[in-house]
Amino acid sequence: MFEHVEIYPGDPILSLMEDYQKDPRTEKVNLSIGFYYDEHGNVPVLESVKKAKSILDTRTQEPNLYLPMDGLPSFRKQVQQYLFGEADAEHGERIVTLQTVGGSGAIRVGADFLKRYYPDAEVWISDPTWDNHHAIFKGAGFEVQRYPYLKEDGRQINFEGLIATFESLPANTIVLLHACCHNPTGLDLAPGQWDALFSLFARRSLIPFLDAAYLGLGEGLAKDSYAIRALAGSGITGLVSNSFSKVFSLYGERVGSLSVICQSSVIAGRVAGQLKGTVRTNYSNPPRFGAELVSIILGEPSLRTAWLAELERMRQRMVDMRHALYDEIKTLKPYSKVEYLVTQSGMFSYSGLTADAVDRIREKHGIYFIRNGRICIAGLNALNVSRVAIAIASES
Ligand code: LMR
Repeated sequence: MFEHVEIYPGDPILSLMEDYQKDPRTEKVNLSIGFYYDEHGNVPVLESVKKAKSILDTRTQEPNLYLPMDGLPSFRKQVQQYLFGEADAEHGERIVTLQTVGGSGAIRVGADFLKRYYPDAEVWISDPTWDNHHAIFKGAGFEVQRYPYLKEDGRQINFEGLIATFESLPANTIVLLHACCHNPTGLDLAPGQWDALFSLFARRSLIPFLDAAYLGLGEGLAKDSYAIRALAGSGITGLVSNSFSKVFSLYGERVGSLSVICQSSVIAGRVAGQLKGTVRTNYSNPPRFGAELVSIILGEPSLRTAWLAELERMRQRMVDMRHALYDEIKTLKPYSKVEYLVTQSGMFSYSGLTADAVDRIREKHGIYFIRNGRICIAGLNALNVSRVAIAIASES
């Protein structure tokens, strides 16, 4: 019966992680998947998360009922406030936020919702982008196109090109943008460029869909949130998907959120209802545990402050490792062009290494990058940075 089922070609990120886990070499280094590793090479359990777990443990044990379709109410409230800040106080009535199964679940729920109301729209994603963007929107039935994101040198954003492309799109086209820490390039728009984009989107009736999986890990939480808050203040309709996997180191709990910014509270009420329906037909309702933890941390001022300090330490360690790798490569090869390491920001660096070079580095040195040349900076530490530098220098 299933004779015609083709072999799954694998996922460029998750399948590589499986290969890494099978690699018997003890010196192997994982710079592939977007995990934050600490200076000892471990994925940390945050202190704020440990405290939230103990708070949760002391609460009266209640029966483990299903959550509502749109998730834990306290989580939804806290998250909307955290994402939109002051813009929530001003525009919160017309924003709908629901809890989702990670960031991927948020994108999928948003995509399914959009497909129902804009069935003929196209989705435009950046070239390059996170591979799953294409797969999720295609899976929801959309035609997916790519807009050029980088100049030919691969080192700067092609802002004029973005504007020219978006000016040419028909009304109601959905445009996926990375709110910060662009994955894989590590290059983000400046505040003035976001403002210019949103006024273009308003004029041409385009629908922005901001994806935020790394808020706080680029230039810090306030700067990284600029696009989300400016979108809410711009008066246009848009969507924001958000993941708590990296920033709370809660990968396995699948905690995320989807917000839809509407034009009025009346519309927001109807959208909220339809989003519940979308969740019901996907997975009925989201899981409870991770959302409880995030809600406790965001809602308790001292825990929130402690978590923000941990987030900032993670960010700063990545900045330090960027400089350490840069210095090591420059010492080995003074003329190598690795400035990108210190000019890009967030969890990833886009090295420009070819897929063949990435394969050679993996085979020879046991160092794993994504084949598009993306390096996860968070996998670097004092013990492996020299070996990584030797490997990259040998191909640069
Ligand atoms: C990544 O880009 O490595 C992460 O977002 C993990 C994933 O699901 O691909």
